[in-house]
This record gives sequence, structure tokens and C-alpha cells, in this order.
Amino acid sequence: MNSKASVLQQAEELIKPLASQHVPKEGTQVEAIIDQWLHAVATDSQFFTNPAISEPSIIKNEVITTLKAHGLYESRLQFWSEVFEHLPLKTPQEPSFRFIDLFAGIGGVRLGFQKVGGACVFSSEFDKHAQQTYKNNHGEIPFGDITYIEPTHIPDHEVLLAGFPCQPFSHAGLKLGIEDTRGTLFHNIARIIEEKQPKFALLENVKGLVSHDKGYTLKVILKTLTDIGYSCNISKDLIESGTAKQIQIEAKKMILKSVDFGVPQNRQRIYIVLWKDGLIDTFKYPEPLRVATRVSDILGEEPCEKLTISDRLWAGHQRRKIENKAKGKGFGYGLVTPESEYTNTISARYYKDGSEILLAQKGKNPRKISTREAARLQGFPDDFLPSKSNTQAYKQFGNSVTVPVIYALASQIKKSME
Ligand SMILES: C[S@@+](CC[C@H](N)C(=O)[O-])C[C@H]1O[C@@H](n2cnc3c(N)ncnc32)[C@H](O)[C@@H]1O
Repeated sequence: MNSKASVLQQAEELIKPLASQHVPKEGTQVEAIIDQWLHAVATDSQFFTNPAISEPSIIKNEVITTLKAHGLYESRLQFWSEVFEHLPLKTPQEPSFRFIDLFAGIGGVRLGFQKVGGACVFSSEFDKHAQQTYKNNHGEIPFGDITYIEPTHIPDHEVLLAGFPCQPFSHAGLKLGIEDTRGTLFHNIARIIEEKQPKFALLENVKGLVSHDKGYTLKVILKTLTDIGYSCNISKDLIESGTAKQIQIEAKKMILKSVDFGVPQNRQRIYIVLWKDGLIDTFKYPEPLRVATRVSDILGEEPCEKLTISDRLWAGHQRRKIENKAKGKGFGYGLVTPESEYTNTISARYYKDGSEILLAQKGKNPRKISTREAARLQGFPDDFLPSKSNTQAYKQFGNSVTVPVIYALASQIKKSME
């Protein structure tokens, strides 16, 4: 057999002409299709395909026949090894279900669902830096802008995953149907759900979604999805005719805290779990693990001196804290010690000045956490490869999810599918 790198390189070259025909009209590189096709061969999953050109099963057979003819494919397991063996975080060899990873970032959600036996069959993320980190860790370039992807082209899957930006909906003459959500990223998600009919969907968002636009944004999301045949733990009657306040009370039960799942971070996010009508009655959200956490759990041995903030920055943080307090505007920076139970939420802007999480140090100014510590604060395993750019790495971990929370949700979703 040829060497590992060259098998993949040869396979990529061979299928490029076929893959080029299926590239969406904008936003996606042909490499995304090549990578995701090769992964679909390895996990025996459906291909992303433009059906006007070919059926997914026909094009898949064509690809496998070509690979065989060139001595690159002997068996599915041999091919799986070629594709995944060199990656630290692998897609399961014998997946028990398939999922798609929308607004994928660096694939934190993917890690949680892979761990319970799922295989990713389509990922989309349009930020070039996040795409590169995704490729380094998961072996595939995600598709680009989701607004250019036709739902009919997406492979079949049982679970749809999306941590999407929170945007307001127009109030103009709404019947709260799918068409009324046009022009928002939620509209693209709803269209994919309507077309592909996954058994489950997990929508992750900031806690503020519950009160966003006085509860209207959440109501539109829930009403749209229940109208196309999906249920969640809030009853259809309440979504249809309850007050914003009543819906908010129920929605708050979908908020989980990262610190309850073994990581020392006070992150709170809403996780809306939806399922096809009739599949289950209610979804059992994961219970807190009740394990003690300490900030020291995530700290590295020897912090780099560069992490200590300058006198100027530290003085600025202290000044703003006093000013904010006087204006009754919260408390500014967050200072912790290794003994603290948890930190504030890490955000995508952490790289700027580290204000939300500063670690007290004896005899000197506080320091920022390192990118590896940021990874641990989000529950990423130590073999995850962060972006080489520190700015990008902080941004990507701040934007991501807490993997153990996703793993707990994935375990419950998997149980519900059995
Ligand atoms: C909150 S982050 C989700 C991060 C992800 N859950 C993770 O674990 O890293 C939302 C992501 O959506 C991406 N995004 C926003 N609009 C998009 C679009 N139209 N198409 C594809 N990705 C998009 C952003 O670049 C960002 O990385």
C-alpha cells in the first residue's frame, strides 16, 4: 500500500473533477466537498450532492470504483484508517447515527456528539481561520456560507446541530410562518430541518435569547419549528397562545451552566432540543454532575511571562471598574485565584484585554489565561490543536461551546433515539 499522506493526496486529486461539479454557487471551496466525500466513504454515509447532476448513491459508487481502480480502497475500515488514523480526535469507525454541524466554529459541538458514537456528514463555517482549525483537528474543511447551500444537497442525518447568531425578526404583519423568517440565519436552519426531517435538532444560543426582543425572537423560533412538525419541552399550546413571560419561564429550564458539568466556568447557554412530533413525549435535560470545580483544574504548570498584563492595562481595568460601579454598570474585570470555584464566561473578545478572566499572582500584576487554559476552560481535550495565532485561538475558544455540556446533551439525545 502507498504511504498514508500519498493515499489521501491521490484520492483527493482523483475525485477533484467530480467534486468540482457539486460546489455551491458561492462561499465554498472544492476542498470541502473532497474532504467530506472521503469522510462519507470512510463512515459509509451519504454524499453532499447537487441532485440536478447526480444521485448521491450513484456518485458515491463512482468515487469508490475510481478509488478501487487505483488501489486506494480495499475495504471501508482500511479506508477509514487512511482518513482518520492520523487525527487525534477521530470520527467513530462504526457510527450509530449521523449529524450535521452548522455554524461549526472549531467543532466543539462535533466533539461531544462524536464521543457518543455520531459521525458528522456535513459541516459549515465561513470564517477562514476557524475553517483551518477545524481542518487540523477534524480532517475536513467545512462548507462556507450556509446561505448559499441548498437544503436538498445536504446528506441525510438524524441530528442537526446549530449554535447560531441571535438576530431579531421583523414584526411586519407576521403569521409566524417559515417565510416570515427570511433574511435571517435561523431561516436557513428551519429550511434544512423542513427538508431533511432529522429526528432531533439542538439549537444553542446565548442565554439572552430568552429575553431578546421582549421574548419575540424565541417565540418566532419555536412557533416556526413547531409549525413544521417539531416539538420541544414547551407545549405547542403555550407557544401558540402563552404570554412571553410564560414561555420565558419554561425556556429558562433549557439553560445549562458549564460549571455544573465539571469545568470551572460560569457560562450559561440555552440549549433548545427539538424532535420530530411523536418521537418522544419530553426531553430529559442532563442533570448537573455535582463535582467540585476549582480554577486550578485548568491551569498550566509554568505560565509564560507575556501573559502578565502591563501596568497600564491593569490601571485601566481598575479605573473602569470604579467608573462602572459609580454608574451602576456592573463590575468590570473579573479577578480569580486558583482556589476560586469558577471564572466568568470567556468571550470572543478575551484576546483584547483579558478583562473577564484575570488570574491574581503574588507580587505582580494579574495574568491572562493561556490559549491552552482557555481550551480547558471550554472542556477541550489536550490533544486538540489550537490555532497557531493566539488572537484566533482565544477568539475561537471564546466563540465555542463547553464540550462536556454538549457531551451530556448528546448522551441524552442518543438515549432518546434508542
Ligand atoms: C457562536 S459560533 C459557534 C461555534 C461552534 N459551536 C464551536 O464549537 O466552535 C457561530 C459561528 O457561526 C459562523 N457563521 C456565522 N454566519 C455564518 C454563515 N452565514 N455561514 C456559515 N457560518 C457562519 C461564525 O463564523 C461563527 O464561527
